[in-house]
Amino acid sequence: MPFAHITGWGMYVPEPVLTNDDIAKLVETSDEWIRERTGIRERHIARETEFPSTLGVEAAIRALKVANLAPTELDLIICTSSSPEYIFPATACIIQDQIGATKAGAFDLQAACTGFVYALNMGAQAIRSGSMKNVLVIGTEVLSRFVNWKDRNTCILFGDGAGAFVLQASDQPGGVMSAVMHSDGSGADSLSVPAGGAHSPATEATIREGKHFIQMDGKEVFRFATRVMGRAVTESLEQIQLTTNDVQWIVPHQANYRIIESAAKHLKMPLDKFVINVDRYGNTSTASIPLATIEALQKSQIKPNDKVVFVAFGGGLTWGAMVVEWTGPLPAKKQVHLRQYRLFARLRSFIRRIFRHIEGFLSRKEV
Ligand SMILES: CC(C)(COP(=O)(O)OP(=O)(O)OC[C@H]1O[C@@H](n2cnc3c(N)ncnc32)[C@H](O)[C@@H]1OP(=O)(O)O)[C@@H](O)C(=O)NCCC(=O)NCCS
Repeated sequence: MPFAHITGWGMYVPEPVLTNDDIAKLVETSDEWIRERTGIRERHIARETEFPSTLGVEAAIRALKVANLAPTELDLIICTSSSPEYIFPATACIIQDQIGATKAGAFDLQAACTGFVYALNMGAQAIRSGSMKNVLVIGTEVLSRFVNWKDRNTCILFGDGAGAFVLQASDQPGGVMSAVMHSDGSGADSLSVPAGGAHSPATEATIREGKHFIQMDGKEVFRFATRVMGRAVTESLEQIQLTTNDVQWIVPHQANYRIIESAAKHLKMPLDKFVINVDRYGNTSTASIPLATIEALQKSQIKPNDKVVFVAFGGGLTWGAMVVEWTGPLPAKKQVHLRQYRLFARLRSFIRRIFRHIEGFLSRKEV
C-alpha cells in the first residue's frame, strides 16, 4: 500500500493588513480587549479584486513549485473553504482551470474550519488506496466578505488567506500516518451563515437581517473547542500506538490563543510545542493549519522525520486530528517551470471558452 507524503506546500495572504486599532474605528472595542480574549493583533484582508480562487491559485502554484510537480500531473484537486467562490461551481474547478491541471478531478469539501484536516485525509486515502498518485489540497478563505463589520462578537476574529499542500504517493514509509474525523450536527446553529442556501434563499428580509453574515455563539464554540481538541489529538496518536512524547509539533487550528493554551494544558504538553501564529492572521478557517505549518517550516522548526499533529475544530460542528511524519519533497527528476504552465493554462482556458462559443453558435444554426 503506497504512503501519502506531503511533498509541497505554499501559502498566500493578501497584502492589506487590518489591525485591532483599525477595527476599534468600526465597532466599540479595543486592541487590549481583542488581544486579551483572542491573542489576535492583526489579520490580512483581501482586496476587492481578490477571490478565494485568486488566493488559492497563488498558494497552489507555490506548493507545486516546492514539490517540483507539473499541474498536468495532478490526479485530483480538493479545495476546502468556509467562504467559497460560489455555491457551485466548486472553487476547486476554477483553480483547476487557472493552474492548467488538465487531467485532475476537482471538488470542494465543506467541513468549516476542520476542512483542511478532512480534505488532507481524503486526499491521503485516495493515494493509500492506490487509485491516485498526486493530489493537491487547498484551504482558501475570503471570510472578510461574510463578516458583519458591525458585529463586534465576530468581526474581530476572522482573516483572509490560503494554504496548499501537495500529497504524493511513495513506497517509503511516512507522510499521513493516522487521522480521526468527527461531527455533531446538533450544534449546527452555534456557528453558521444562516441565509443564502436552500433553507433561506436570499430575500430582502434575509439581507436586512444580516443573515448572510457569520453568526456565532462565541461562548458555546469556545467550550466545544476546549472539550474536543486534546481528545482528538490523543485519539489520532493512539491509532498508531504513539503518545504525545513521540510528537515534535502540534499545529492547531488558529482560532484563539486561549483555546490553544487550554488544549496544551489538557494534553500536559508545553505551549512551545504548539505552532501559533493567530496573532498575525486571525482565524483563517481552512487556511490556518497550512499557514501555521508553512511558517514553522520557514523558521526551520518542523524538520524531516518530525512527527507533527494537525488538529482542528469548527462549524458543523466538526473536529478532527491527523498525525504526519514530515518528509519533504521527493527526489527531483527534472526541473518543472511553473510560469510556463501558468501561461499555458491561461491560453488554454481562453481558447476553450472561444471554442465553446463557436460550438454553441454552430449548434444553434443546425437547430
Ligand atoms: C468571541 C470570544 C472572543 C468572546 O470572548 P468571551 O470572553 O467569551 O466574551 P463574552 O462573549 O462573554 O463577552 C464578554 C463581554 O464582552 C463584550 N464583548 C464582546 N465582544 C467584544 C469586543 N470585540 N470588544 C469589547 N467587548 C466585547 C460582550 O458584549 C460582553 O459584554 P457584557 O458582559 O456586557 O454582555 C470567545 O467567546 C471566543 O473566542 N469564542 C470562540 C470563537 C471561535 O473560535 N470561533 C471560531 C471557531 S472555528
